[in-house]
Amino acid sequence: MTNMNILAFESSCDETAVSVVRDGRQVLSDAILSQADMHALYGGVVPEIASRKHVEAIAGLTDQALADAGVTKAGIDAVAVTCGPGLIGALLVGVNFAKSVACALGKPLIPVHHLRGHIAANYLAFPELEPPFLALCISGGNSMIVDVRGYTDMSILGATRDDAAGECFDKIARVLGLPYPGGKPMEELAQGGDDAKYPLPRAKVAGNDLDMSFSGLKTAAVNLVHNAQQKGEALDRPSLAASVAAAISEELVPRAIEAAKRCGHHTLAAAGGVAANRRVRADLERACRENGLRLFLPPLKLCGDNGAMIGSQAYYEFLAGARADASLNAYANLEI
Ligand code: KG4
Repeated sequence: MTNMNILAFESSCDETAVSVVRDGRQVLSDAILSQADMHALYGGVVPEIASRKHVEAIAGLTDQALADAGVTKAGIDAVAVTCGPGLIGALLVGVNFAKSVACALGKPLIPVHHLRGHIAANYLAFPELEPPFLALCISGGNSMIVDVRGYTDMSILGATRDDAAGECFDKIARVLGLPYPGGKPMEELAQGGDDAKYPLPRAKVAGNDLDMSFSGLKTAAVNLVHNAQQKGEALDRPSLAASVAAAISEELVPRAIEAAKRCGHHTLAAAGGVAANRRVRADLERACRENGLRLFLPPLKLCGDNGAMIGSQAYYEFLAGARADASLNAYANLEI
């Protein structure tokens, strides 16, 4: 099917996003409202506030997305929504709104997995990218290595056993007094820092060498900060931030390369908020060059949550026959 306009909703965490995407690859509009400032007051996402803010924003953003796209309601061919994983109350806002819109317009409803959406952000930036490839999905809630055999055929090769990479950045940023979300402020702080100054642990996970763990690293960095504060010692903050970024990147990048080799993939794509990180991007670039892999790094604005990535993945889900009806639910945890 061509010239298919999908109206897509994303509300799994603290961004309300509505987008119109044509044929899975062309972004006609991408309306987004971040609640990050609100949650920053509390040092992290407050689920109840997130749900309420989604309710307040979603109708207005829908009007904006249609207007920006220059598409009327009649010009929408299908409605898509993130149904999981994420904060359950936040997801339910998007799912219920999307159901109502699909019902009112008489159009098909397509459920989309949030992480499949993150991977699909690459299709929007790189028209030449097609499966199969290896995806490194690194966001605030998830860190996983995914074998993308087809647009809707994928499996997890490795994942974090505890915290996500983004969460690790965020929690360490918090003890350093940096604003939420802490990934970007940590990146800025790390500039000019010595990434070898603070020896931080690199995890080895028993059972699956592609699995990851970030909680030991998080605790080590948090303890380091608290000890320095208690002893009244000066902390080299840029070097600590640089050491954290190095530790996180060394957890992620070699595993992604190893996974690509095992699958026989020649292409690696990064996805999710942490894929915006300068250190991670630089390490991926070098490692892919050294191992003869083609690397796709989405532009920064497509790394974080957005509606366009959901609209992109939805097109391929639609082609594969995915449809939902009014019984569609939201799921805090959902297999990819
Ligand atoms: O993909 P995303 O917007 O939301 C989820 O689906 O979780 O990712 C948000 C995460 C946050 O933890 C944030 O601190 C992190 O991505 N992040 C970064 C950077 N920009 C965002 N982490 C490291 N460096 C960055 N530049």
